[in-house]
Amino acid sequence: MAPASSSLPVLLCLLFSSLAAAAMDAAETETLLRVMEAVSSDRDWRSAAGADPCSSPWPGLECKPAQSGGATRMHVARLDFGVLPNPTCKDTATFPLGAFALPHLRALFIVDCFKNPDATTAFTLPPASNLSASRLQQFSIHSNPSLSGTLPPQLASLSSLQVLTVSQNALIRGEVPQGIGELKNLVHLDLSYNSLTGPIPSRLGDLRGLVGLDLSYNSFSGPIPSRLCELTQLQKLDLSSNNLTGGVPGTFTRLKSLTFLALSNNGLRGRLPTGFSGLRDLQYLIMENNPMGVPLPSELGNMARLQELRLANSGCSGSIPETFSLLSSLTTLSLENNNLTGRIPAGLSRLKRMYHLNLSKNGLDGVVPFDGAFLRQLGRNLDLSGNPGLCVTDRAVVPDVGVGVCPDRVCVRSAAAESSVRRLIKGEVTRGLWPRLLLRPASVALCCLLL
Ligand SMILES: *[C@@H]1O[C@H](CO)[C@@H](O)[C@H](O)[C@H]1NC(C)=O
Ligand SMILES: *[C@@H]1O[C@H](CO)[C@@H](O)[C@H](O)[C@H]1NC(C)=O
Ligand SMILES: *[C@@H]1O[C@H](CO)[C@@H](O)[C@H](O)[C@H]1NC(C)=O
Ligand SMILES: *[C@@H]1O[C@H](CO)[C@@H](O)[C@H](O)[C@H]1NC(C)=O
Repeated sequence: MAPASSSLPVLLCLLFSSLAAAAMDAAETETLLRVMEAVSSDRDWRSAAGADPCSSPWPGLECKPAQSGGATRMHVARLDFGVLPNPTCKDTATFPLGAFALPHLRALFIVDCFKNPDATTAFTLPPASNLSASRLQQFSIHSNPSLSGTLPPQLASLSSLQVLTVSQNALIRGEVPQGIGELKNLVHLDLSYNSLTGPIPSRLGDLRGLVGLDLSYNSFSGPIPSRLCELTQLQKLDLSSNNLTGGVPGTFTRLKSLTFLALSNNGLRGRLPTGFSGLRDLQYLIMENNPMGVPLPSELGNMARLQELRLANSGCSGSIPETFSLLSSLTTLSLENNNLTGRIPAGLSRLKRMYHLNLSKNGLDGVVPFDGAFLRQLGRNLDLSGNPGLCVTDRAVVPDVGVGVCPDRVCVRSAAAESSVRRLIKGEVTRGLWPRLLLRPASVALCCLLL
């Protein structure tokens, strides 16, 4: 006898198991219908459900067969509310507490749902004892401008959670409950764009499986807890746009999996920890708008995978380290509005992937060391304006890069001559004559003759 195709038995098996699954039981169906009626008036849910809501589920309802009490039945596995084709939320929608009584619910998404400008809805959860059997793995409450209240401490009882998103709900305020550290299965935690306050709980360090942590755009204050370094699987950490103070913890050098670190728009000060450049996988270092007030760390030049380095408006002083010319993956270097001085390292123009370079509003000086190819590569994404001591030798690029033409080549043949011209020009700048000199190369020539 010819052997059957190897996938056939598997297919038959799947077919039989779903055929064999009995309809959802009456109690679960009733719970589902009450949830639907509490949130949405898009349909007459009872007639839409018929004898078995899983026989032809509406968008936003996902059913799965599961065994319980010896029989295989269909159960509600996922509910989505808020955005078409999913059920939309009525103005009088209440928070669907009943959903937590659905015994096999794995995913609950409430997106763009609570937005009645005339009434707020409270974010609440059933008592912890009702949640202990929960199998919820994904819970997402996103873009609900009229959902109010604090993060319920019972969140800590949703022990199967892998993905928790409470994001863009402007009226969600207060502190993060410490119990969040109980959610040992969490892989992604996103609490961005709410109005959360207080410290970042150090117990987040207990979430050892965390790969993504986003607390950006809240009002968290105090220092960054050094215990976050225990999140050794962490790839993305975003704490930007809060009110964090202190420094970057020295323990951060242990976050070896990090590829994305954003700490911008806070009150962080001081040096990056020694050994920071050992974070070999880091691709994005986004730190602008912190009063760091230190020289740019030359060791950052060791971070070969770095694609974006943003340290604008950070009170950085000193020169741009030559080592930055080694950042061969760099596409964006944003250092505007600091106190950087000295020459621009010529090696930067070897960075073939560079796409955006902003060095404006610093105290850089000397001849811009970029060749035509590099200038074309950057186009309008190069900004050197606001550095009175910088100049270019090619008149044609002046409008693009925002700096003036260097004094005539005749004058700058020798370094000594260059510096005396420079001293002279600097004197002229303070007397406001620089623009006129720029407009009149003849007068530059004249000043050269006078030297
Ligand atoms: C909590 O569980 C009890 C007992 O099963 C039940 O009577 C009650 O309605 C549940 N409360 C909520 C808010 O689900
Ligand atoms: C940040 O913290 C400072 C000092 O604690 C406080 O005065 C300020 O109001 C806070 N700002 C925000 C946006 O929370
Ligand atoms: C640059 O340094 C001066 C004096 O050291 C200081 O007053 C100024 O605020 C600094 N500027 C920036 C942008 O940090
Ligand atoms: C550079 O930064 C300044 C802010 O200081 C900004 O106004 C300007 O648009 C930026 N230039 C480019 C090319 O991104």
